[in-house]
Amino acid sequence: MEVSERFLQTALDGIHDCINIVDKDFKIIFMNEAASQRAGKKRQLLLGNKCYVELWKESSPCKNCVTGKVFETGKPQQTITWEIDADGKKFYLEKFAFPIVDKDGKTEYTVEIFRDITERKLLEEDREQQRLELGKRVRELRHAYEELKSMQNQLLQAEKMASIGLLASSLAHELDTPLTTISGYCELLAEDIHDERLLDRIKIISEQIVKCQKTIRNLLDFSRKSNCEKKLCNIHHLINNTLLLVEHRLKIHKINLRKTFDDDVPPLLVDGNQIQQVILNLVNNAVDALPQGGDIIIETRLNTEAKSIEVVFEDNGIGISSEDQNRVFAPFFTTKEPGKGTGLGLSICNNIISAHNGKITLDSRTGSGTRFVVSLPI
Ligand SMILES: Nc1ncnc2c1ncn2[C@@H]1O[C@H](COP(=O)(O)OP(=O)(O)O)[C@@H](O)[C@H]1O
Ligand SMILES: [Mg+2]
Repeated sequence: MEVSERFLQTALDGIHDCINIVDKDFKIIFMNEAASQRAGKKRQLLLGNKCYVELWKESSPCKNCVTGKVFETGKPQQTITWEIDADGKKFYLEKFAFPIVDKDGKTEYTVEIFRDITERKLLEEDREQQRLELGKRVRELRHAYEELKSMQNQLLQAEKMASIGLLASSLAHELDTPLTTISGYCELLAEDIHDERLLDRIKIISEQIVKCQKTIRNLLDFSRKSNCEKKLCNIHHLINNTLLLVEHRLKIHKINLRKTFDDDVPPLLVDGNQIQQVILNLVNNAVDALPQGGDIIIETRLNTEAKSIEVVFEDNGIGISSEDQNRVFAPFFTTKEPGKGTGLGLSICNNIISAHNGKITLDSRTGSGTRFVVSLPI
């Protein structure tokens, strides 16, 4: 070895990257210590042999070989590939190759440098993973923020509803007196009139006034705040009284209501006002689920075994997806457009029925309808 060659060898042996020089026949002319270690043989046994045999255990030049490309193009090459070592461990290899040219400028030899960049790659992948994770967190946060904002809106809406409730009850008080007066004057008129046709008309007016008064009294009863005053109540009366409040809605939405009442159902010790609130919300929800009209069935039945009564509210409306079924009882969950739903109805129903030691169950299929069953202990 000449002095300059020895210097070069020593210098390149100190480098961790594998460095080889090969000729046009892929014969190894030079290699550093790292390269011979990678090949697993002493340098003297490798020099003069084909690089693809010794370094890559192939019988012909490797596919995508950077050295072959250098001989082809005369230009430096660079690639990064996944490789698998003798123990089956995967690693990233960065391969550089550049030409050594003769005096005519033709590529005579190629210098190859292989560098294991697995660690750097894994770090990069880790960073990419963290970036994705961060993106996900940001999206979640944004979603939570949107949800909070919509809840705030709904809370405002709920407050508005509460004040409308107050307004309704004072309006009902205001209307009660004039209606009583009108009804009194109708009676007086009827005493003085003997024409049958006119009498019939007055009768119709009186009947309609009675109906108005009933609705108003119901509204008053309903809006009265109560701290769970339990009394023995007939559930069928509670249902019928509540239905008076929604009669008009049912009519304009072309909804057919069928009641099947079980006469064996005994009186229940409940807060009638609260139970009416439950009935009203379940019926209103059913009406909302029937935008094109349809049927609502209300059924009562006695469950002697469970010592309870069951009130079934069934509609053949839009139904609730199985995904939403777990959420409908959560406060503020609504699928209705702003101003139409507060998402509080079912959660309040649930609270009321729980306070009566009962339970509400739900059975629904998207597109075919919904059935709520309220069970109350006897
Ligand atoms: N009978 C029903 N048919 C279809 N969906 C219903 C029915 N009852 C309740 N839901 C669903 O449950 C949600 C929550 O109901 P609720 O708590 O009463 O609040 P709101 O009526 O204000 O939306 C409704 O928005 C609706 O998506
Ligand atoms: Mg509702």
